[in-house]
Amino acid sequence: MIHCFALGLVWLTAAASGAAAFNTPVILVPGDGGNQLWANLNGANNHWYCERNTDKPVMAWLDLINLAYPAVHCLAYKLEMKFDPNTGRSRDNDGVSIVVPGFGETETVEWLSDVKIEQTGYYNKLVDHLVNKLGYRRGVDIVGAPFDFRRAPNEMSEYFVQLGALIERSYAANGNKPVVIVGHSLGCKVILHFLHSRSQAWKDKYVKDFVAAAGPFGGSASSVLASVSGYNLGLGFIRPLWFRDAQRSWPSTYYLYPSGLVFEESLAIVETKQRKYTLAEEDIRDLYQDIGYPHGYRHFKALGNLTDQTLPPGVRTHCVFGHGLKTAHQFRWTNGRQFPDQQPDIVYSDGDGTVNIRSLDVCVNWSGKQAQPVASVPVAGAEHVKLLTYSEFIDVVERAASGSD
Ligand SMILES: *[C@@H]1O[C@H](CO)[C@@H](O)[C@H](O)[C@H]1NC(C)=O
Ligand SMILES: *[C@@H]1O[C@H](CO)[C@@H](O)[C@H](O)[C@H]1NC(C)=O
Repeated sequence: MIHCFALGLVWLTAAASGAAAFNTPVILVPGDGGNQLWANLNGANNHWYCERNTDKPVMAWLDLINLAYPAVHCLAYKLEMKFDPNTGRSRDNDGVSIVVPGFGETETVEWLSDVKIEQTGYYNKLVDHLVNKLGYRRGVDIVGAPFDFRRAPNEMSEYFVQLGALIERSYAANGNKPVVIVGHSLGCKVILHFLHSRSQAWKDKYVKDFVAAAGPFGGSASSVLASVSGYNLGLGFIRPLWFRDAQRSWPSTYYLYPSGLVFEESLAIVETKQRKYTLAEEDIRDLYQDIGYPHGYRHFKALGNLTDQTLPPGVRTHCVFGHGLKTAHQFRWTNGRQFPDQQPDIVYSDGDGTVNIRSLDVCVNWSGKQAQPVASVPVAGAEHVKLLTYSEFIDVVERAASGSD
């Protein structure tokens, strides 16, 4: 009897300390290219080399073998979108159906590929750190919210419902603790859009912090290059033209267009022998006419101002971003380069190598515009994607998660 009682007491004590030991849930939202995408093929009408049909989803982004010629054409075909003028929406390419695997888990945002090497790691360092140091459990209190990063928030309503439900579920499963949302790159702007759509009461209840890593809140000049000539993210073995059709077709490319309010509308973003194109609407219209892709202007009109970056998120925010690296700012085809099929001469400004500083530090302006604090954490020399491996970034998440900030 005494024995049973003692056992019961031990059990009760363990349960009580277990309850106190819930971690603050961490929700990981990736950026452009920051999670795996798989594809089902059903009669795809693509390059002679590529498969036409599959009996199960095959890895598209990022199957390393698919980055080599000629397989790279198969990958570009799978990722290209078609615009349907009847619905005003973008759809998968003919015979392709893209699947986003791993929602609510971490695997597909930790690694971009099933080949786990340094270059394919993404949120893996952060997740490992929280698991090893604070006892986090994958899929329980640290979860991923991958999405189809080709799309912009105007075509993501289903995702926003899922994301809201994931946050509420994580809150309830972890002792009613409000969550920390971590975003990277495009994911930061997507989170901002999501938070704008939620009531202040909902945010107060469910969201403790927003950690925005390398958020291009004012857009990025490199998205202009991606849609005009193709952009290979600096990977020398990839020809920019191979991916241009895909990049041009992605709504997210235009969602990340440099905002005239942040970059100055009079900025000559593109210059050819014939003329200059600024960020003013009429110039952008002409630009896409002149390169033979008038559709680009329609996307720009629909998506350029979709998320108001001057409106704060309404939750406590930490903006972590790199600076001090050469970042493309203006593009010139004045020096004998063929427009738009050859890569231009590039005029650089400060930034993280991909996103310009004036866009990264837009969130600094939220300070004082909302009741909750906004902290800015600039990290000298941290490249856009590598930032996710920097201790400065991991520390910010750890402090927010452990409540020691
Ligand atoms: C966004 O808003 C600004 C300011 O109102 C305007 O000048 C610009 O043309 C708009 N951009 C788009 C893509 O509609
Ligand atoms: C930030 O705020 C300052 C001062 O109000 C303003 O001059 C500047 O244009 C703002 N920057 C952005 C990117 O909104």
